[in-house]
Amino acid sequence: MPTGTGYHDELGEFFAQNANASPYNAYTDRPAMLALAGDVANADILDVGCGAGHYAAELLAGGARVTGIDASATLLRHAQSRAARAELRLHDLERPLDFAADASFDGVVCALVIHHVTNRRQLLAELRRVLRPAGWLVISTTHPTADWRYFGGSYYDQSWVDLPHGPGVLHFQRTTLEAFLGELLDAGFTLEKLVEPRPCADLREVDEAAYARLTERPSFLAARLRSGA
Ligand SMILES: C[S@@+](CC[C@H](N)C(=O)[O-])C[C@H]1O[C@@H](n2cnc3c(N)ncnc32)[C@H](O)[C@@H]1O
Repeated sequence: MPTGTGYHDELGEFFAQNANASPYNAYTDRPAMLALAGDVANADILDVGCGAGHYAAELLAGGARVTGIDASATLLRHAQSRAARAELRLHDLERPLDFAADASFDGVVCALVIHHVTNRRQLLAELRRVLRPAGWLVISTTHPTADWRYFGGSYYDQSWVDLPHGPGVLHFQRTTLEAFLGELLDAGFTLEKLVEPRPCADLREVDEAAYARLTERPSFLAARLRSGA
């Protein structure tokens, strides 16, 4: 089994279903990240850690050509049925993106994945390599203060942790705002925008308690960066 991902079998099936309508994915992370991506018509986009294809489907609907990569065969099967026009590949993000030529993408979407990856330095260098000179990256991660609230200890703790999720656990590395942004800037990206997504208003009708909670306490960080200066 590839390193870094526990989203196989039962947990993969759970994630695929949950992400359809979860207050976190469907009402908070995805709307914020798709807003950061903006107009994607005719763009070549690499969806890094594409999961069950929720992003790929939206990007295709926006007129993009999408390549999705993920190490979970379970999730790629869902992505295949949700986003049939995307080119999908089983790929471990701990390895170089050897299938992709230099400067072959206009944009990269990397949603809620980077905290699962150990060799982030290599991955970010590879993302810059495959992006065209004016290319963009939109990326989200767990909000450091959400992890701090949940796991406690020092805010600056960057240890690997296990978070119960449905029938399994999510294994990921805690971060700080300084480390998250620092790694992106060190890789040569330029920050254009940073957001701490709040849920969209529709969630209030569907789940008022989740809306109140997510409006008060940030769960994610999301950023848009440029590949060059
Ligand atoms: C929280 S899910 C996010 C999925 C999708 N981006 C979304 O937001 O709907 C994290 C994804 O990262 C993938 N992943 C984690 N570590 C990985 C690795 N080393 N290589 C490839 N994919 C990995 C998992 O399989 C899973 O699909």
